Amino acid sequence: MGPQCMRPVQLLCLLGAISTLPRSGALLCYEATASAFRAVAFHDWKWLLMRSMVCKLREGCEETLVFIETGTTKGVVGFKGCSSALSYPPQISYLVSPPGVSIASYSHVCRTYLCNNLTNLEPFVKLKATDSKSIAFSSHNCPTCVGQHTKECLPNFVTTSSCPYTAPKCYSSTLKFQAGFLNTTFLLMGCAREHQKILGDFQYIGSIKVTEVLNVLEKSQIIDAGSSSRDPAWGILLGTLLAFSD
Ligand SMILES: *[C@@H]1O[C@H](CO)[C@@H](O)[C@H](O)[C@H]1NC(C)=O
Ligand SMILES: *[C@@H]1O[C@H](CO)[C@@H](O)[C@H](O)[C@H]1NC(C)=O
Repeated sequence: MGPQCMRPVQLLCLLGAISTLPRSGALLCYEATASAFRAVAFHDWKWLLMRSMVCKLREGCEETLVFIETGTTKGVVGFKGCSSALSYPPQISYLVSPPGVSIASYSHVCRTYLCNNLTNLEPFVKLKATDSKSIAFSSHNCPTCVGQHTKECLPNFVTTSSCPYTAPKCYSSTLKFQAGFLNTTFLLMGCAREHQKILGDFQYIGSIKVTEVLNVLEKSQIIDAGSSSRDPAWGILLGTLLAFSD
């Protein structure tokens, strides 16, 4: 910009300068994050796409959505933005399959204008249609919740659910998902095959960096969480706070 850019037209000059920057090969992608718990309506959930961004040369558009289910509660965490990964078609699979706590992911990288345009949970509707419908339940119960420990998983909201026969152990962890502007930490509790890390093999889901910290449960809570409906939840919350303060 030269001295001919007078004050009233400085903005126009600036806009003009930006619009003439070389951008051959640079792609426009949607930029968004998602982090929703409890009130996730499977068929009505909508990912609002309000922003887009210009990627760096050779980058593509990514969309990664993680669907978490425990008992009857659901959570959705996702990321859309630019990615340096090679393009790949939509990949949908269970990282942790039901019954019990389940985690499914959808991930896609593409290289056409605003192609990371998924706005619903349709991929997971299809995936869940393949779930086994017959589940035998055991006599074990576990505190069940997915959400933030200061909101959806406050002790009063933690319910107890009976465990499937093949997933009889109580699981409780604090999960952290980070990518771009996405930075969400939440609690996941429910029935599992073992009380051990269930995402151990996945440090990344798409571009989302995953950290899983098991919450410290007292033996009595693991073995018989169902015997008292209130105390275990408090114990678990304390366990969570201890894990945070490490
Ligand atoms: C989403 O992107 C794909 C690939 O670019 C395109 O074919 C499709 O029409 C888009 N859908 C919507 C709703 O914009
Ligand atoms: C994510 O959020 C936590 C707590 O809100 C904060 O301490 C941390 O610095 C954030 N990390 C990033 C990468 O923004």
